[in-house]
Amino acid sequence: MKKLSKLRAGFLAGLIMTIFAAFFVDINDARAEYGDVVINNYSDGAGMRPVVFPHWFHRMRFRCKVCHADLGFKFKAGGNEINMVKIIDGQFCGACHNGEIAWSVENCNLCHSAKPNTPTQVHESTVQKLAQPTGASKK
Ligand code: HEC
Ligand code: HEC
Ligand code: HEC
Repeated sequence: MKKLSKLRAGFLAGLIMTIFAAFFVDINDARAEYGDVVINNYSDGAGMRPVVFPHWFHRMRFRCKVCHADLGFKFKAGGNEINMVKIIDGQFCGACHNGEIAWSVENCNLCHSAKPNTPTQVHESTVQKLAQPTGASKK
C-alpha cells in the first residue's frame, strides 16, 4: 500500500513537472514569435520616432484573420506601405485606432515610441533568439 502511494506521488510530481515545462516553453515561443514589430519605413525620414507595434498584445485580443486577412496586413515587418493618410482614412492601424475600437490617432507618441534610428525589425524575434546563446535549461 505504502509503495503504491509513493509511486502515485512520483507519477503526479512528474505529471506536474511536464505540464509546468510545457507551459513555460509555450510562453517563451509565443514571446519570441510575437515580439514587438518596429516599423520604420518613413518615420525617421519624416522626423518622427519609429513605430512600435506590440504584436502579442494585439494577438491576444484579435484573431490573426482580422488583421492578416480582413485588414490586409502582409506577414512581414515593414512589408506594408503604411502612412498617416491611410491610417486616418481607416486603413491598417486606423481600422481600430479611430476612437471607437481603440484610442485614436492623435495619441502620436503611443505608436511612435521607438528610439530614433531603430530599424524595421521584429524585436526579440525567433531568429534573434537563436542567434545568441541563452542560459535556458533546454538542451
Ligand atoms: C495607431 C498608431 C499610430 C498613431 C496614433 C500615429 N501614427 Fe504615425 N504612423 C503609424 C505607422 C504604422 C506609420 C508607418 C511607419 C513607418 O513605416 O515608418 C506611421 C507613419 C507616420 C509618418 C510618416 C509617413 C507619413 O504619413 O508621412 C508621420 C510623419 C507620422 N506617422 C506622424 C504621426 C503624427 C504627427 C501622429 C499624431 C497626430 C501620428 N503619426 C500618430 C502609426 C501611428
Ligand atoms: C491587430 C492586428 C494583428 C493581429 C491580430 C495579428 N497580427 Fe501579425 N502582424 C500585424 C502587423 C501590424 C505586423 C507588422 C506588419 C508591418 O510591419 O507592416 C504583423 C506581422 C506579422 C508577421 C511577420 C513578422 C516578421 O517576422 O516579419 C507574422 C509571421 C505574423 N504577423 C503572424 C501573425 C499570426 C500567426 C497571428 C495570429 C496568431 C497574428 N499575426 C495576429 C498585425 C497583427
Ligand atoms: C484590430 C484592431 C487593431 C488594429 C488593426 C491595431 N490595433 Fe493597436 N490596439 C487595439 C486595441 C483594442 C488596443 C487596446 C486599446 C485600449 O487599451 O484602450 C490597442 C492598443 C495599442 C497599443 C498600446 C499597447 C499597450 O501596451 O497598451 C499600441 C502601441 C498600438 N495599439 C499600436 C498599434 C499600431 C502601430 C497598429 C498598426 C500597425 C495597431 N495598433 C493596429 C486594436 C488594434
